[in-house]
Amino acid sequence: MRRKLVIGNWKMHGSLEANHALISGLAKALERLSEADKTQVVICPVSVHLAAAAQQLNGLPGQIGLGAQNVSHAASGAYTGEVAASMLAEAGVTLVLVGHSERRELFGEGDALVADKVAAVLDAGMTPVLCVGESLAQRQTGETESVVLRQLNAAVQRVGVEGIARSIVAYEPIWAIGTGETATPEQAQEVHEALRKRLAELDEDLAANTPILYGGSVKASNADALFAQPDIDGGLVGGASLDAEEFSAICASSARSGASA
Ligand code: PGA
Repeated sequence: MRRKLVIGNWKMHGSLEANHALISGLAKALERLSEADKTQVVICPVSVHLAAAAQQLNGLPGQIGLGAQNVSHAASGAYTGEVAASMLAEAGVTLVLVGHSERRELFGEGDALVADKVAAVLDAGMTPVLCVGESLAQRQTGETESVVLRQLNAAVQRVGVEGIARSIVAYEPIWAIGTGETATPEQAQEVHEALRKRLAELDEDLAANTPILYGGSVKASNADALFAQPDIDGGLVGGASLDAEEFSAICASSARSGASA
C-alpha cells in the first residue's frame, strides 16, 4: 500500500520568527483534524532555517516531518556554498527535494546532476523526492511524456530499481507552478499513469509502492479532485503551504482520498 503524503515547499520564504509561527499554526490546525483526516506531512524550509525548525518540531506532539529543498551532489569537499546530504541529515532532515524545476531552470541543473543528487540523498539514508515536469512549450508540442520519462530514467539509471524503491516521485508541470493554473485532474492522472507504467516495466512492486505526488498550484479548493485520481498519492505544495489553515485542509484532502488504494 502506498503512503499518502503532502509536502510543503516553502521555497525562499520565511524568517526564524515567521517559521515559528507557521509551524505552531500548522501543528494546531493538524491537531484539529480527525484521525481519518491524518496524513503524512513534511515541511521544507530553507536550509539555514532547518535546525531551528527541527528543534521546534521535536518539541511538538504531532508528526510533521522535515525536508530540505536542495542538496549537493558531493559528499564533502571544496564546494563553496553547497550543503552535503549528511549535513542535512544531521540537522534532522529525512526527505530532500531533488531536481525541482526552479533548480533545473534557474540554476542549470541537468538530468545527470539531478541523478547524482538522488544518489547522494540515498547514501545519507534520506528519501529523495525526484521532481519531473514539462514546460508549456513542451506540452504544446506533445513532448510531456517523453520529457518526464527521460527525467525519471536518468535517476533510474543512476540508482537502479533499489534506489527508486526508496524514493518519491513528484510530477510538477512547470506551467502550473506558482501560476494559479493547475493541471486538470485528468491531465495530471495521465502523466502519473505514464510514470507508473514506466516503473511497472522495471518492477511491478516498484510501481505499486512508489508514491507519485502532484505539484503545481495545489490549493484546498482543488486538492480533493486531484488526490481522488488513482495514481496521485498526495501533493507537493508551494504557495498554499505558507498558510497553516489552507495547508492543513490540503493534508486532510490527501488523507481522505483513495490515493493509496
Ligand atoms: P505552487 O508550487 O504550489 O506554488 O505552484 C509548487 C512547487 O513548486 O513545488
